[in-house]
Amino acid sequence: MKPEVLQILKEYGQEHILNYMNLLNEEEKENLEEQISKIDFNQLKNLYEMTKRKVEFEEKKIEHINYTNKEKLSEDRIKELEEVGGKIIEEGHYAVITMAGGQGTRLGHKGPKGTYELNTKYGKKYIFEIIVDTLKRAKDKYKITIPWYVMTSRENHEDTVEFLEKHEYFGYDKTKVKFFMQGELPLIDTNGKLILDKDKKIKEAADGNGGIYEAVSKSGILEDMKKNQIDWIFVSNVDNILSNFVDPILLALTIEENQKIGAKSVAKTNPKEKVGVFCKMNGKPKIIEYIDLPDEMAEQRDENGELQFGEVNLANYLFHRSVFENLADVKLPYHAAFKKSGYLKENGEFVEVEEPNVYKYESFIFDVFERYDDITILRVKREDEFAPVKNKEGNDSPETAVKLYNDKM
Ligand code: UTP
Repeated sequence: MKPEVLQILKEYGQEHILNYMNLLNEEEKENLEEQISKIDFNQLKNLYEMTKRKVEFEEKKIEHINYTNKEKLSEDRIKELEEVGGKIIEEGHYAVITMAGGQGTRLGHKGPKGTYELNTKYGKKYIFEIIVDTLKRAKDKYKITIPWYVMTSRENHEDTVEFLEKHEYFGYDKTKVKFFMQGELPLIDTNGKLILDKDKKIKEAADGNGGIYEAVSKSGILEDMKKNQIDWIFVSNVDNILSNFVDPILLALTIEENQKIGAKSVAKTNPKEKVGVFCKMNGKPKIIEYIDLPDEMAEQRDENGELQFGEVNLANYLFHRSVFENLADVKLPYHAAFKKSGYLKENGEFVEVEEPNVYKYESFIFDVFERYDDITILRVKREDEFAPVKNKEGNDSPETAVKLYNDKM
């Protein structure tokens, strides 16, 4: 090993990597050395130390955030908003990004989450196919093929592209589909040590959906949007099979309220529901996780009996292109998630794990909201727009999502 690489490993307490050297041929050694020289070990050290600290919200002023309840809008008002938003879509100023860079560890499916097959009342459908169905319905309605950008990560990029190619984009015009890859960070075990993967490289994983800002810019997608006069971009998760991501109402409302970001919410079912909710923190829009919301605040209700902090984040966001232009270099905070990851032992054996064993560091797409004075929030009905596929079984599983999908579609 090159002395400078050795020095880095020693300095950051990662000498255990040397114990793998006898498993590696010359080429693999070179690859590993190159990978090590690219890792920001100082950043990793800080991130690992961060996992040991608790975030304090005490001095923060948490307040209710305003929203519009779609259910309470009159038919005329809905029509008016649909017309304003619809015109922008028809004129080709609207695009969709599907965030599909995640690992989907909880679902445990081998392959990208979008390639997971569900048993719906219309027969078997892949998650990507359901997304394309939504795009195709929009095409029928607005007589335009909306550009579809798919965010992947190194781990699933090839499989994702190959899958959509193989299925001929489920009938969508492939010239309107573009893929872009997000960044990565190494995983770290509970002792702060790097782990090795099957390919004898340090195991890295997508650095959270907040990686979208850098990725959109670096990949040339932002340029593509500019060239094609895309002004508004709807971003949603790959795993919500009821996501209504071609939404003229949210679009028109965001423009009317003179905001650059719009988001959808659903009503929290009860004060104890374990979900992130929208709020204002120190005067800025923010999503506060349930563990950070004090109990008495979670219970607070307004004069109509609605929870003061009752707007659940649906992970459906609308951005004006300028947000991506302004935030291309944004440095977002990282949050640690405890996840499962198989790893290579020093004797060359690869171990699959049943329980979480590593920290994965992720930045969140919504952590940029606080850089704006306000955002538009549209509350929609849960059963209309929210059917997440997260877990293998139980809550938010293929079974619950399909039931919701079958009821709605
Ligand atoms: P989740 O936080 O649910 O993570 O992602 P996940 O990777 O899909 O699943 P688990 O936690 O490992 O089980 C929410 C959305 O953000 C995307 C995911 O693909 C999903 O659409 N995402 C997540 C990214 O695009 N990149 C990431 O680095 C993380």
